[in-house]
Amino acid sequence: MSDRTMYERLVRPVLYRLGKGDAEVAHEQTLAALRLLGRIPGAARIGARAFGASGSRSTPAGAAGSAPAGGPGLARTVFGLRFPSPVGLAAGMDKNGIALRAWPAIGFGFVEVGTVTAHPQPGNEKPRLFRLVEHEAVINRMGFNNLGSEALAARLAAYGDLGYPLGISIGKSKVTPLEEAVEDYVTSLRRLYRYGDYFAVNVSSPNTPGLRELQDAGHLRELLTALHTEAASLTVAGLGPKPILVKIAPDLTTSAIDELLQVCTDTGVAGIIATNTTIGRPDVTAHPLSKETGGLSGRPLAEISAKVVAHIHHETGGALPVIGVGGIVDASDATRLFDAGASLVQVYSGLIYKGPGLIRQINRSLL
Ligand code: FNR
Repeated sequence: MSDRTMYERLVRPVLYRLGKGDAEVAHEQTLAALRLLGRIPGAARIGARAFGASGSRSTPAGAAGSAPAGGPGLARTVFGLRFPSPVGLAAGMDKNGIALRAWPAIGFGFVEVGTVTAHPQPGNEKPRLFRLVEHEAVINRMGFNNLGSEALAARLAAYGDLGYPLGISIGKSKVTPLEEAVEDYVTSLRRLYRYGDYFAVNVSSPNTPGLRELQDAGHLRELLTALHTEAASLTVAGLGPKPILVKIAPDLTTSAIDELLQVCTDTGVAGIIATNTTIGRPDVTAHPLSKETGGLSGRPLAEISAKVVAHIHHETGGALPVIGVGGIVDASDATRLFDAGASLVQVYSGLIYKGPGLIRQINRSLL
């Protein structure tokens, strides 16, 4: 029986029954289990060997030692950072960074924590996470439930070196009006700057009212200029420099993407993360849960995210590295994003449907 089958036959049904089928309970239990796994000495190293490839970097000092999942065939250098594998955990899964020692054990070569906000916030009312199992899709309207950037900074300080590149996704607090968004993002960047290897500016979540307006050229230019100015002063203080990336929605028109790319180029952005969840409902309209408000992810997003990645790659002539994300539920989906021009990829929903075997499958397919 393959790992994939074992997960789908044995583990997934149990997870789905947790909390009487409440998808968020399963998510929390999985994170708690992974956190424990990360604390077992040697577990991360053994897991990385099983799910990634042989480790190519020495294991840093730390409670359990996060052995990076990688090897000479998988490692990539992108925006100046060395990634032991180009397959990363997408933002939103480990918002508060509670299981950071465990992720390499299932084969991830990098992790993006967050999205965090300057103020801690509970997010939207539950239920806010829905599985459309037949479509290998998810709808969520979590609304940046997180402990805040100050708490994340404290947690990251306690970890020390993780041994793999850590991205930190920052967003706007719900209580902060759009006109004051810049200061909200800058506050989080300042608090977290020393701990992240790259920063993702999330202007594309559909679950914070008004947030996606920050993708408009005028707003975005102001925001990115302020973040780069802050980063420059922190760099002078000895904490940098660090790449700043922008995560975009799959729902932008191509002309809006082109405008956004111009702003990113002008302001020195290091790369684009494409894409966040969609407010569209491609392929799933007949499903009873498709009318739930929120962003759709998983298989129905695959084609759209690949199109966006290809467009960015073509438009920038490959000059702006892209992290491709959206709809990777098997290795061929990852290949499609790499073929479209992605330098790295990330996974979220695929992990829910296929389990950790998916990451190994992708890593193997890349070797
Ligand atoms: C997300 N995603 C997300 N993205 C982000 O930048 N910040 C976040 O806080 C979250 N939160 C979040 C929660 C949940 C429950 C889901 C399902 C997704 C989006 C995620 O990182 C990714 O861009 C999309 O889910 C598309 O990838 P997949 O899921 O199709 O692999």
